[in-house]
Amino acid sequence: MAKRKRKRHLFADHVAAIPVSEPPVRPGIVGLSRTVPSTIVRPPYADSGDPGPAVSSLVRTPAELDAMRRAGAMAAEVLIHAGQFVEPGITTDRLDQIVHDETIRRGAYPSPLNYRGFPKSVCTSVNEIICHGIPDSRPLADGDIINIDVTVYVDGVHGDNSCTFLVGDVDEHSRRLVAETYVAMMEGIRTVRPGSKVNDIGRAIERHARAHHLGVVKEFIGHGVGTEFHSDLQIPHYFDPRARAVLEEGMTFTVEPMLTLGSPSLFLWNDEWTAATQDGRRTAQFEHTLVVTPQGHELLTVASDGTTAAELYAPKPEKVSS
Ligand code: MF3
Ligand code: CO
Ligand code: CO
Repeated sequence: MAKRKRKRHLFADHVAAIPVSEPPVRPGIVGLSRTVPSTIVRPPYADSGDPGPAVSSLVRTPAELDAMRRAGAMAAEVLIHAGQFVEPGITTDRLDQIVHDETIRRGAYPSPLNYRGFPKSVCTSVNEIICHGIPDSRPLADGDIINIDVTVYVDGVHGDNSCTFLVGDVDEHSRRLVAETYVAMMEGIRTVRPGSKVNDIGRAIERHARAHHLGVVKEFIGHGVGTEFHSDLQIPHYFDPRARAVLEEGMTFTVEPMLTLGSPSLFLWNDEWTAATQDGRRTAQFEHTLVVTPQGHELLTVASDGTTAAELYAPKPEKVSS
């Protein structure tokens, strides 16, 4: 009897062994929104905050795709730039300034700024924060993990990517979480080719997460991206039998799984942006923008020298003995 119960609750037992993240992340002071020089072309929502309904085609024109290669490379390079500054003591507001300045230096608009009223130029999500963390006065602490989600708008299109960085000396559970979240994203991306289904992506991600006892967040999903920040295509990171849409050459979208050490249930802070795990255990995310090509797919959020933030900064999975 006792034995049977133990087996049925294997997952719960596994999670119980993982500590909640201490101390919890608390809201800090959010500084003023940063300003963008008038010479930089702004997306349609920059002043009103309202992107309006998604209307763009799911498939990009060759000219749009060219622009997306430039926007994607720029987003990747800004993310890599920000990664160099991740260390204990730096505030997330300072990271916002670094991303903002580097984006406008390159002639682009930082897409998060005033998107549906988002007050800052980048999302910074620490420890148990799943996504959409607002940069504030909180300094990073030794042992934290932080996702930096950079999106830029240039030549009329967006490039969207993120990476979870380790801050100083990080515990083993968190390193495993971050390493396997990157692998899960790449497993999802690997399925992408003309004729594959949207739910092949989520199936591969969920399978990898499950094999590593990690939860998959369902409330936030990958999305079509191009002339709009979030266009109509929806990419769940779990197997959704209804997501039977077939991928076609020229479609551009993100894959951006959020995996958790404990339960993936979430709640929103009072700021109505910051999503945190209910159980306080940690969570990680990676994101790429990609296009479906005749051969399969091409990552768009890659620096012009071919590197990505994740390749430079993400921990590699450790071989588990026995
Ligand atoms: N970059 C996020 C994504 O991957 C979206 C951020 S929306 C914001 O989709 F308003 F919070 F910036
Ligand atoms: Co995205
Ligand atoms: Co993003």
